[in-house]
Amino acid sequence: MSNTLIINDAIMRMLSAAARHFLKTAAKEAAARGQELYAIGGIVRDGLMSRPANDLDLSTDRDAIDLAKKLAGLTAGKLTRHPRFGTATITCDDFHADIATLRRETYEKPGALPVVAPGSLKDDLNRRDFTVNAMACRFAPEPAGELVDPCHGQADIAARLIRVLHSGSFRDDPTRVWRALRYEQRLGFRLEDATEKWLRRDAPRLADISGERLRYEIECVCREDRPEDIFRRAAALGVLDTLPGLNIDDETRLRFETARTLYLPKKPPAAVYLSLLTFNMNIEALDGFIVRLRLPRKAALVLRQTNGLMLKLPGLKEDAKPSAVTTLLQDTDVNALRVALAAAGSRSVKRQIGDYLDKYRHVRPLLNGDDLLAMGIAPGPALRETLRRLRSARLDGLSRTKQDEMALVAGYTSKTP
Ligand code: CTP
Repeated sequence: MSNTLIINDAIMRMLSAAARHFLKTAAKEAAARGQELYAIGGIVRDGLMSRPANDLDLSTDRDAIDLAKKLAGLTAGKLTRHPRFGTATITCDDFHADIATLRRETYEKPGALPVVAPGSLKDDLNRRDFTVNAMACRFAPEPAGELVDPCHGQADIAARLIRVLHSGSFRDDPTRVWRALRYEQRLGFRLEDATEKWLRRDAPRLADISGERLRYEIECVCREDRPEDIFRRAAALGVLDTLPGLNIDDETRLRFETARTLYLPKKPPAAVYLSLLTFNMNIEALDGFIVRLRLPRKAALVLRQTNGLMLKLPGLKEDAKPSAVTTLLQDTDVNALRVALAAAGSRSVKRQIGDYLDKYRHVRPLLNGDDLLAMGIAPGPALRETLRRLRSARLDGLSRTKQDEMALVAGYTSKTP
């Protein structure tokens, strides 16, 4: 009597209707070609745990790109090929599917990308990061649905453990350090004892990976529901020491929560969380962080502006006029302002930033450029300055109507020599 577990329906149930249709089409096409097709990795884990899954990871025993090309045609998906890796991605409405040829991997140098060669299903599962991610489910040929679980991932799901497959796993691929912490918090699991020991031992090897790879991992952390829990765990395990200057305490956690409320129903961009971790670094340390993560210009700007703004905020008097608040804040990116709102210690400063974001930044004078030209104001700097003064007057309640503004303009011009 075999104790084969059939899990294709459990996987299917966790997919969107479009993804389900895609997987059925893929299984049919693979079977027609006499190819094997497996759902593999996270999708199997999520199916076993009854967690919704968006992305499909599929593997076949040969010609993944050719199969993907056919499937893109059958499902009106957009095909992207990665010939170097023998893989392809198909993007459809609400999901994407990665299709790969089964392979084995060897690491010639710790931290470098692996050398890839065709392999069996077992080789492919054995190259993976954690037991819970090293399972597959056959979708072709029939009979479909069998769970392939040579590393006992199902038992680790039951025991709620994140376990690497061998002692050298983090050394081979130090990005797995961040992945382990991510899954641990996301799934509510804990690191298995030996895994934790090896993670602590090999975390310093994160220093060897490229900025792009490190940034990708940190961005993945920031996309989780509660990145603060992952950063806190990283601090406890010594992983945060690989990003010098970062620390996280209870205040930081509250700030993360506040920041999230400012972006609902979406999630804050990664740069917002990173700014909350770096706003009180000195400028050299901040530059070092930005360079280490090779942050793109836009994200780096948010970090730098937040850092600069937090130094300026103590200069904001409690009774500052709205125009003064606006002058201080108006050239700052909205994301940096939201970080400052979440991070500021003073209630009055929080209120002032909130007022700027909700009200002041939308205030414009009632007269526009054409009105001012018609009133004889010269185009160029004089016009811009008049608009600025009118905006300030409106912000501070000194003008309410067009007539008020016209009177102010008359006053400005009569004083101009
Ligand atoms: N994988 C790995 N080592 C890595 C990255 C990925 O072994 N450094 C394997 C894992 O088996 C993982 C699969 O590749 O399940 C797909 O990777 P990814 O899409 O990053 O992970 P998912 O498990 O699909 O997780 P998520 O739910 O975060 O998308």
